[in-house]
Amino acid sequence: MTYENIFDTHAHYDDDSFDEDRFSLLDEMFENGVSGIINCGCTVESSKKSIEFTEKYSKIYAAVGIHPQNAAEEKADALEQIEKLASHEKVVAIGEIGLDYHYDYTPKEMQLEWFEKQILLAKKLDLPVIVHDREAHADCLELILKHRPKGVMHCFSGSVETAKQLTDIGFYIGLGGSVTFKNARKPQEVAASLDISKLLLETDCPYMTPVPFRGRRNNSALIAHTAEKIAELRNTTAQEIINTATLNAKQLFNIK
Ligand code: NI
Repeated sequence: MTYENIFDTHAHYDDDSFDEDRFSLLDEMFENGVSGIINCGCTVESSKKSIEFTEKYSKIYAAVGIHPQNAAEEKADALEQIEKLASHEKVVAIGEIGLDYHYDYTPKEMQLEWFEKQILLAKKLDLPVIVHDREAHADCLELILKHRPKGVMHCFSGSVETAKQLTDIGFYIGLGGSVTFKNARKPQEVAASLDISKLLLETDCPYMTPVPFRGRRNNSALIAHTAEKIAELRNTTAQEIINTATLNAKQLFNIK
């Protein structure tokens, strides 16, 4: 089945794994149903690259930010750099930012400091945040509830209850390939019960490839498989899920 109007709210096309065929792949996807992509920065460098993509493709938008795993290696002026980059007309969010307690490349205290500073930057610039939360649900939720930015919890892996707490304050929930995984009980429960006006679709490509391509490199067109799974759980069609999620994305990221 092919679909149209796919909007991927979380991609990393600056990743090395796309070096061989990045632009031909993007061209092909834009001709085959993908209508928009947000490329997310993880460092100052990758944030700059995300902006470069937006200048080459009208359908690509950028998020700029420092990922928790990369914070320790950034220079002291990184936050200023991110603020400068955020003034570009196609920057639609601060991200990806957040907390990652699975890895310890960046000490916990430093992660918390960077996350909070970037939430405050997003609020100052009136931009939404794209949040990465890995094994840090409680601390992520606490900071979001404290500052109440607009935004999305990307690749959501929490419970139905946490999803509700987030959507109740207007936050969006990003779902990707993990809802198609065999043992993905929690993401599937969330996909089935979530307030549909708060659903965003995403890849996190090159990672998180949906079944039946799990293990291979991900790309935005494969969102079709994630949408099909969510549609099955909600007893509707994948195109309907895609259309709603695209509308939601345009609303959150203020895209015309
Ligand atoms: Ni990501």
